[in-house]
Amino acid sequence: MHRLGILGSGKGSNMVAIAKAIQNHTLPDTKIEIVIADNPDAGILEHASALGIHAEYICAGTSKSRLDGQAEQNYIEALNRANVDLVVLAGFMRIIKPAFLAAFDGRIINIHPSLLPAFKGLRAWEQALEAGVKTAGCTVHMVNADVDSGRIIKQAAVDVAPEDTAESLHAKIQEAEHIIYPQAIRTVLCGH
Ligand code: GRF
Repeated sequence: MHRLGILGSGKGSNMVAIAKAIQNHTLPDTKIEIVIADNPDAGILEHASALGIHAEYICAGTSKSRLDGQAEQNYIEALNRANVDLVVLAGFMRIIKPAFLAAFDGRIINIHPSLLPAFKGLRAWEQALEAGVKTAGCTVHMVNADVDSGRIIKQAAVDVAPEDTAESLHAKIQEAEHIIYPQAIRTVLCGH
């Protein structure tokens, strides 16, 4: 049995997609052991509880973009207590620092709403729209010390239509995310 720890800050639609893939056995022999959010009001916590998954809010400290020293340790300890094999970032809005990377060496993955290496950073779908690209998409990648830069595991492309707005493009990209994130997790855990 592969054990996942999922970290999020937002609505949790990717976590739900992963849970569904586990339920319908397209992601076999896998369990979400713990969901952790850095925001007590994050939808991801509510969705996890509704699915019977252990969910915890853990304070991230005073920094807006990172996990503060003690908070970082608290996250590492919670994931270790849950004995997770893979840390899955699903809309977790913080940069992962060296101590966390070292604690789960080569076992942290992320999903980013662009075809990396294009459009790293925040609101990537807006960056794509502003750049006028005709193909956007999403990327699942390993997490390393540089933001949105680790080895690419899987990508999906979506067409940008002339009438697309930031909202409609983001919605299309999220639909693709929900398909490829479970597939990418399977690739990492099972090799296929
Ligand atoms: C996704 O669009 C992902 O690409 C980005 O954060 C968003 C999380 O959405 N990293 P959700 O919380 O899974 O709905």
